[in-house]
Amino acid sequence: MRYSRLRLRFSILFSLTTLILFFLLALHTLLWSTAELEPPEQALIRHKPPSDMPFWSAFHQPNVYDLQATDSNKLTNRSSSITRQRINELFELVRNARNNQVGSSNLKKDSDHNRKWSFGKFAGQKPQTGSNDTNTHTDTADSVGVQGAKSNIQSKFTATEKVTSEHDKIQLRYFILDALLKWKKQHMNDTTISLGDVMHDSLAQDEPERLNTTWFQYIKTITNFRVYDPNSSELKNVFKHLQHGAISEANEMSQGTQIKILLGLPNGLQGLLKPYRVPRNYQTQPDHFYFSDIERHHAEIAAFHVDKVLGFNRVPPLIGRFFNITSDIREKATAELAKTFFISPANNTCFRGHCSYYCDTSHAVCGKPGDFLEGSVQVLLPRPPEINWQKITHPYRRSYSAIKQVEWESNENFCYEHVMIDEDYHNRLLLDMMDLSAFDFLIGNLDRHHMMRINSLGTNTGLVHLDNGRSFGRYDSDDLSILTPIRQCCFFRYATFMRLYKIYHQGFSKLVADSLNAGEDLQTILVEEHLEALDRRLEILFAHLDTCMKKYEVTGVMINDGIY
Ligand SMILES: *[C@@H]1O[C@H](CO)[C@@H](O)[C@H](O)[C@H]1NC(C)=O
Ligand SMILES: *[C@@H]1O[C@H](CO)[C@@H](O)[C@H](O)[C@H]1NC(C)=O
Ligand SMILES: *[C@@H]1O[C@H](CO)[C@@H](O)[C@H](O)[C@H]1NC(C)=O
Ligand SMILES: *[C@@H]1O[C@H](CO)[C@@H](O)[C@H](O)[C@H]1NC(C)=O
Ligand SMILES: *[C@@H]1O[C@H](CO)[C@@H](O)[C@H](O)[C@H]1NC(C)=O
Ligand SMILES: *[C@@H]1O[C@H](CO)[C@@H](O)[C@H](O)[C@H]1NC(C)=O
Ligand SMILES: *[C@@H]1O[C@H](CO)[C@@H](O)[C@H](O)[C@H]1NC(C)=O
Repeated sequence: MRYSRLRLRFSILFSLTTLILFFLLALHTLLWSTAELEPPEQALIRHKPPSDMPFWSAFHQPNVYDLQATDSNKLTNRSSSITRQRINELFELVRNARNNQVGSSNLKKDSDHNRKWSFGKFAGQKPQTGSNDTNTHTDTADSVGVQGAKSNIQSKFTATEKVTSEHDKIQLRYFILDALLKWKKQHMNDTTISLGDVMHDSLAQDEPERLNTTWFQYIKTITNFRVYDPNSSELKNVFKHLQHGAISEANEMSQGTQIKILLGLPNGLQGLLKPYRVPRNYQTQPDHFYFSDIERHHAEIAAFHVDKVLGFNRVPPLIGRFFNITSDIREKATAELAKTFFISPANNTCFRGHCSYYCDTSHAVCGKPGDFLEGSVQVLLPRPPEINWQKITHPYRRSYSAIKQVEWESNENFCYEHVMIDEDYHNRLLLDMMDLSAFDFLIGNLDRHHMMRINSLGTNTGLVHLDNGRSFGRYDSDDLSILTPIRQCCFFRYATFMRLYKIYHQGFSKLVADSLNAGEDLQTILVEEHLEALDRRLEILFAHLDTCMKKYEVTGVMINDGIY
C-alpha cells in the first residue's frame, strides 16, 4: 500500500519535471527564434561597448564588439603546393641567374631565338589594341564611371584573331626581354625627380604661402619611384595631421561610387576619409560581385601597411583616425552634406551622403556609439591642373557586369595578343603591372580597373596604388584570377622577387602585424584569419612563379629592369 503510494507520488513528480523541462525548452526555442529575427542593426548594438565610455578612453579599446558581430569560418585546407625548401631553391636559382646575366644576357645564344623574326611584321598582322587612355584624370582616389569604360573594353575585343603560334610566342618573349634591356640602358642614369621640384615654380608665382607648409614639405618627398619616404620626418608630420589635425571642412567627394569625405586639415593638407562600414571580420557576401562590394576603412589601412612592408611605398600615406561625428564632420560639413544627417533610433548620429552605392538611410554611416566613428584618412595628392595624371585602363580589368566575361578570362594567349604586342608596355609599365598583380593578390583586391601614375614625373615613373577599399574581402579563399597577368605573361621584376623572398623569411604576416601595431591607434585592423591568408597567398605567389620559371627558364621570367 505504502509502496504503491510512493510509486504514484514518484510518477507525478516525474511527469511534472518532464512538463517543466518541456516548457523551458519551448520558451528557449521561442526566444532564440525571435532573437534571430532581430534586424542586424539591433544585433550589433548588443555588442557595443558600454555607452558611458568616454570618447577619449575608447582610443585604447580593442574592437572586440566587432569581432562578435559575424561568425568566422576558418579555412580548413591549409595545404600548400610549394614547400619552404622549394622556395629557397628558387631564390638560389634567381640569384645565380642574375650573377651570370651580366650585360646583355646570354639569351641571344639560345638556339630557339630566331633573329629573323620581326616584331613589326608580327604586330602588323594584329589589330591595334593600344591601351593609351590619356584622358587627364580628375579623381585621384576612386572608381570612375563604370559604364563608359565597359563599352571601351567591349569594342576593343570584337575583332576575332587568329591563334598566336608557339613559335611567335617564344620570339615575342625574346623581343620583350630585349626591349626591357634597352629601356634599362636608356634609363639607368635617370635622376630622381621630386614632385616638389615639378610644382615649385608655379606655386612660388601663384601661391607662395603654400611653399611654407607641412603639405609642401611632404610633396618634396614624392618622387617618380615612391609616393613617400618611409623613414622621413615629413611622413611623421603628415601622419600627425591626418590622425589628430583639427578639421576645418568636410565635403563630399563627388567622384566614386561610395561615400568619401574630403577633409580640410591644417598646414595645407587635405585628407580623404573613408568611414567605418563593416566589422573587421566581415566577409564579402558570396552573392555580391566585386563591384557592389562595400568599401572598408580597415582594408585601406591594411593595404597601406602591406604595400609598405613589401617595399613598394606606392600607396599614398593613410592612417586610421577616431572622429567625433558631430564636432568633426557635422559641424564642419558643407550645406549639401549637412542635410543628410539624422539621429538613428539607437540615438547614434548618422549621415547618408550622396553616391550610387550604399548612400541611403538603411546604409547610413553612423557613429557607434553616439558620436563615435572610426575611419581611414589618406593624404590627397595634387590633382589636375596642378599636375598631370595618366589613367591607364587595366588590360586585365574585370567586366563589371554580372553576365559578361572579358577576353582574358578565356584566352590564355591574352598577354601575347594584347599586352606584349602593345608598345606602351615595352618599358617599366609591364613589370609595374606584375608588381601590382602580386600586391592585389596578396590583399585580395579584385577591383583594379585602372592603373594610375603621375605623368608630371616623366616616363620613368611607377604606379600609384590608389583605392584599396575593396581588398581583404575574404580570408577563407584566395582568388587566383588576380594572378592572371603573372600566370599568362610569366614576367616578374627581379628586385621585387628578392624582397618577397626576404619578407617570406622574416614572416610576412608578422611584419604586417608589427607595422600595424607600431603605427595605428585603431586596434585589430586585420583579424588573425586575414593575417594567415597573407602568408598562404605569398606561398601561392611563389608557386606561380615556380611554374613560370619551369616553363620559360629563370632568365626568361625574372627581369632586372633597374627598378628597385
Ligand atoms: C586541398 O588543397 C589541395 C591543393 O590545393 C587540393 O588538391 C585538395 O583537393 C584540397 N582539398 C579539399 C578538401 O579541398
Ligand atoms: C600611346 O601614346 C604614345 C605616346 O603618347 C604614342 O606614341 C602611341 O602612338 C600611343 N598609342 C596608341 C595606340 O594610341
Ligand atoms: C650612364 O652612366 C655611365 C657611367 O657614367 C655611362 O657609361 C653611360 O654611358 C651612361 N648611360 C646613358 C644612357 O647615359
Ligand atoms: C614659414 O613659417 C614659419 C612659421 O610657421 C615662419 O616662422 C617662417 O618665417 C616662414 N617662412 C617663410 C619663408 O615664409
Ligand atoms: C628605414 O628604417 C629602417 C629601420 O630603421 C631601415 O631598415 C630601412 O632600411 C630604412 N629605409 C629607408 C628607405 O631608408
Ligand atoms: C562630440 O561633439 C559634440 C559637439 O561638440 C559634443 O556635444 C559631444 O559631447 C562630443 N562627443 C563625445 C563623445 O565627445
Ligand atoms: C534616445 O534618447 C531619448 C532622449 O534622450 C531617450 O528617451 C530614448 O530612450 C533613447 N533611445 C535609446 C534606444 O537609447
